[in-house]
Amino acid sequence: MEKKSLNDSQNFSFILTKKIIQMNDVWTSYDSKSYALEGVNLSIDRGTNYAIVGQSGSGKSTLLKLLNGMMVSSKGTIKVDYLTPNTNDKKFKKMMHTIGYIPQNLGLIKNSTVLQNVLIGALPRLNKIQSLFNKFPEDEINEAKKIISQVGLKGKENRKAYMLSGGEKRRVAIARALMQKPHILLADEIVSELDHVTSREIMDLVADAQKRMNLTAVMVHHDMQLALEYANRVAVIKEGNKILEIGVEGDTIVDFQTGDMTTDEIMEMYSSESKK
Ligand SMILES: Nc1ncnc2c1ncn2[C@@H]1O[C@H](COP(=O)(O)OP(=O)(O)O)[C@@H](O)[C@H]1O
Ligand SMILES: [Mg+2]
Repeated sequence: MEKKSLNDSQNFSFILTKKIIQMNDVWTSYDSKSYALEGVNLSIDRGTNYAIVGQSGSGKSTLLKLLNGMMVSSKGTIKVDYLTPNTNDKKFKKMMHTIGYIPQNLGLIKNSTVLQNVLIGALPRLNKIQSLFNKFPEDEINEAKKIISQVGLKGKENRKAYMLSGGEKRRVAIARALMQKPHILLADEIVSELDHVTSREIMDLVADAQKRMNLTAVMVHHDMQLALEYANRVAVIKEGNKILEIGVEGDTIVDFQTGDMTTDEIMEMYSSESKK
């Protein structure tokens, strides 16, 4: 094979990892009695939409919290863009600002306006004086307005968050995350309680943002059907174990890594789940 030689004039300032997220034999627990995750292996390509599906209590939220450093693992290694997530680590903390995390309850400030909620995403970029007085520069305000328009909320900038519909609230949470200029988006069941049409609208929004920003999305879903519609890969978690990893290629479901269940069994299990 021909050897590639690097041109002297090429100035490489950094190396981009293709596998933006890696988990290797990760165990974690909240107490000494049991593990919430038991030896999870995961590898996520940059720019993909990765879904995590599993029943309530299976460990999905825990997995997301490990990726943004809110929790640390008891055993195993986790790398997010080369760094081990840990909020006590200065380097990671800096990088953490570019991980957009949307918790299941969305974490909006109910009595604040759409614009104020979205601007929160820019807080880490303010200097001390600006953040002390919550004084956002004009260009950040304009950026927030642009993103609000991108998520379909133009004209609702000054509406209080509690006045919004469920779908609109999701749009605000996505806008706040996009305001962080993220390279990773972690979203915990943000479309679970929405009707079929609204949940697709929200997923389309995420897909659009992904295309624009080469964003890697890791989204927890309850609905296998929806996960398969949007994700490049779907990991199925059961009782703290990753039991299956599948993806859609054309009109076929491809099994990338099988655990102790077959694809048929898993689809059966989750089709009844999603009809609830
Ligand atoms: N703060 C906590 N303290 C103790 N146990 C917890 C806590 N949060 C989650 N767990 C337990 O960890 C397991 C995984 O929970 P979680 O990740 O929230 O599951 P999921 O998001 O899939 O519903 C469950 O058994 C749950 O009871
Ligand atoms: Mg959860």
